Amino acid sequence: MLLLPFQLLAVLFPGGDGEDAFQGPTSYHIIQISSFANSTWEHHQASGWLDDLQIHGWDSDSGTAIFLKPWSKGNISDEEIAELQKNLRAHLLRFTRYTLGYASQFQVKYPIEYQAIAGCELQPGGSIGSFLRGALGGLDFMSFKKDTCVPAPEGGSRAQQACKLIMNNHDDINNLKTLLFDTCPRYLLGVLEAGKAELQRQVKPEAWLSRGPSPESGRLLLVCHVSGFYPKPVWVKWMRGEQEQPGTQQSDLMPNADWTWYLRATLDVAAGEETGLSCQVKHSSLEGQDIILHWGQPISIGLIFLAVIVPSLILLLCLALWYMRRR
Ligand SMILES: *[C@@H]1O[C@H](CO)[C@@H](O)[C@H](O)[C@H]1NC(C)=O
Repeated sequence: MLLLPFQLLAVLFPGGDGEDAFQGPTSYHIIQISSFANSTWEHHQASGWLDDLQIHGWDSDSGTAIFLKPWSKGNISDEEIAELQKNLRAHLLRFTRYTLGYASQFQVKYPIEYQAIAGCELQPGGSIGSFLRGALGGLDFMSFKKDTCVPAPEGGSRAQQACKLIMNNHDDINNLKTLLFDTCPRYLLGVLEAGKAELQRQVKPEAWLSRGPSPESGRLLLVCHVSGFYPKPVWVKWMRGEQEQPGTQQSDLMPNADWTWYLRATLDVAAGEETGLSCQVKHSSLEGQDIILHWGQPISIGLIFLAVIVPSLILLLCLALWYMRRR
């Protein structure tokens, strides 16, 4: 039994090529967001993620999971999935009951916003670690260390009471332990294997330049857009020759709808200093053929030549021929 995860790991990290061998997500987690507007209105959202790629949704009306990819089930059987859905429905019901009871007992003010994240991740040594953290009203509330509920300092006495309540419920704790330390690692290895073709694909970025709004008069904001790449790690810098420009500012990575990423690198320069600058992009999909875009380079002299000079020459030639004929 113990050997199986290691065999799967060998498949996921082939040949010991170091870290480059495996790119793509290394963790699975479920996010629960529960909102209680008052004592009679609550709403739960749940979703499942491989790092920052969503593979599961949750239909809260029917209490069933939505599989967003054909391989989202990993190697978990349909019976076990049915069981897990039942578990999650029961958990949400119990959670609602606890929260409402707790709110009336301790006079907690509505609205109550609760967020939780629970899952597991591959660790560098090849082991798999599990985690569960909860937040109330946007502040850390509690987390699990091993199999013990630990109240967060920000949660105050409420978090301490909640943890006591949770730890007293042995059935729930045992269920949770199975989910975190058995089901999740098994599922993670299975789904990373099932989705390998998509999770470990390489998609090349496209890059283009534009001018941003001038920061102040006499200055320019150069913008280098890089879009459509996968996986996430990317290197984008404004350069002068071989020299990295330290003023390069990178935006956050933003997701495109097709599981690729978008990023913007900007440089604020004095007008006149922009000539000779270029934007350089390195990404694993480019296999060392970096994209280099030069600022302000004429659209390509060749193109201008073709578009303007050649038609003019032809026109001139035609005119000359026509003129000669007439004579
Ligand atoms: C509870 O909140 C919901 C949603 O905001 C609202 O429609 C409903 O009228 C509220 N009920 C009470 C009893 O305040």
